[in-house]
Amino acid sequence: MSVFSDEWKRTLYCGEPRCGHAGQSVVLNGWLRARRDLGGIIFVELWDHTGVVQIVFNPEIIPETHARAKDLRGEYVLAVKGTMRVRPDGTENPDLNTGGVELLAEDFLLLSPSKLPPFDPDEAERVNEDLRMKHRYIDLRRGDMQRNLRIRHEIAKFTRDYFDKNGFLEVDTPILTKSTPEGARDYLVPSRVNPGDFYALPQSPQLFKQILMISGCDRYIQIAKCFRDEDLRADRQPEFTQIDVEMSFITEDDIIGLIEPFIAGVFSETANAEIPLPIPRVTWKEAIERFGSDKPDMRIEMEIADVTGIFASGENPFSETVGSGGAVKGLLVPGGGSLSRKEIAEFEARAMELGSAGMANFQIKDGALRGPLVKFLSGDAQSRLIELSGLTPESIFFIMADKKWTRACELLGQIRLEIARARGLVGGGWKFLWVTEFPLFEWDDEVKRWSPVHHPFTAPMNEDIEYLKSDPGRARSRAYDLVLNGVELGGGSIRIHDPKTQSLIFDALNISPELARERFGFLLDALSFGTPPHGGIAFGLDRLVMMICGAKSIRDVMAFPKNQKAQCPMTGAPSAVDKSQVEQLYILSTAPEKDGA
Ligand code: AMO
Repeated sequence: MSVFSDEWKRTLYCGEPRCGHAGQSVVLNGWLRARRDLGGIIFVELWDHTGVVQIVFNPEIIPETHARAKDLRGEYVLAVKGTMRVRPDGTENPDLNTGGVELLAEDFLLLSPSKLPPFDPDEAERVNEDLRMKHRYIDLRRGDMQRNLRIRHEIAKFTRDYFDKNGFLEVDTPILTKSTPEGARDYLVPSRVNPGDFYALPQSPQLFKQILMISGCDRYIQIAKCFRDEDLRADRQPEFTQIDVEMSFITEDDIIGLIEPFIAGVFSETANAEIPLPIPRVTWKEAIERFGSDKPDMRIEMEIADVTGIFASGENPFSETVGSGGAVKGLLVPGGGSLSRKEIAEFEARAMELGSAGMANFQIKDGALRGPLVKFLSGDAQSRLIELSGLTPESIFFIMADKKWTRACELLGQIRLEIARARGLVGGGWKFLWVTEFPLFEWDDEVKRWSPVHHPFTAPMNEDIEYLKSDPGRARSRAYDLVLNGVELGGGSIRIHDPKTQSLIFDALNISPELARERFGFLLDALSFGTPPHGGIAFGLDRLVMMICGAKSIRDVMAFPKNQKAQCPMTGAPSAVDKSQVEQLYILSTAPEKDGA
């Protein structure tokens, strides 16, 4: 191998050559792909982050170079010198930007060989994801992954520029800190110098950004790493990144007014899409009632209807549920009249699997209402059902009852999603929605007490403060989520800045003043030293990038993600550490011994 000197430095990136370069002497640097030997001529592709270009080693040009090229293998790193030429007629590749040209190689320098790669980057989509993660450097040598990283960079850059122009200050907050109340489990880090004590990695910079407002910072932004020990999904990682924002002396409309042009800007800059503003808003209650979800996918037109009134009189299987304050909800599926019995049975079985007591259906056949429950309805009730549901001979109306209206809606909301996916009823485009007025608390049946839907520093709506003591479940919060195509992209709220309301919240949550002091004393102290009204929002950067890239998982838009078991197959983290290291941390493990340990 010879030395990489100036003469071997690229004069073009691999994705750059075009017909206009024909006749030029160029040097290319990159990784070797897709070798083919045809009639003594060797064709390879050379890849770098900008694309691939075809290289030809022809024995009739420089026999010695051609002979050496026979030993080249996939993923070898090369510098190649030669002359660009237009490809002979009929050999162009319309799928490649560089497909009209090829490099006729005159000489090359092998910069680094490669072991036989565990998979071909071009085939990576079909490879087990853990293997891709184990050799992430090979997985990242793909156009799609490089594009995802680039879009991520562009979104981050746009974000910084946008908030900078609007007077925000980027401040970084600690990673070794105290537990933050976002509701997930903490990652803990033992302190060697404080035996027995632990830092928590931040679930979000929530409390620090509030303290920055109390510090007079006025407008804060951070592209912040967050850590949550929770079950992983396609859009959840233990370590992820937020675009975290906080502002002082504002109300909801100021935050929304600043975020909407930001989102529209991100989409116009990086997805070439125009987002119509303002983004529609629905309250949480309306979202659940109409779509059965607090993050409705607005690309689906189907809406949930309330048919409780129809089952309120006469004897029918829902009489008891309705009598005890429950609800009957229905979903009209356009075109569903053509569903086979088997398909209907499958959706109904799915509803049971999700936890419903049962799902029934109505159809119009031969001009009459049909379905297992028709016999329980009077003629008048049947007409009302047809009118309310909008049922036609082409459609089908599924119904479900539950003692809790929210549960009936949410189960039907899940069916709405699944039917829409199965029947091709998910429209296209970017459908944004603000969901506002969330409940402040939800009942946690496990611990038999209220817990915050967002976090305990979220302000209640002024008109609901009276319920904090009398009926906490009724209190709504000044929280808002931004939803895109059924994915929660971001969420935030106006915060409590008055200590009295804060103690009412702690009371409702059954957090004693002592416990509040122990957990959040530093914030409570800060709140008592002059706090401006403030609020903010945080977006999942990974989720935003995932949506814009059209990736299936946030793992595909992170350079080094964790797998479903929260492991990094490349580094082997988490891993055992030396006994001495653990001893220095005053830690004794109760974990069962691993095989071979
Ligand atoms: P929240 O908990 O709603 O709010 O988080 C804000 C956004 O962060 C993203 N997100 C995640 N992304 C990937 N993996 C995860 N495990 C994960 N968890 C959350 C989501 C979510 O909408 N401090 C508040 C914000 C505020 O009130 O200002 C907070 O963290 O896109």
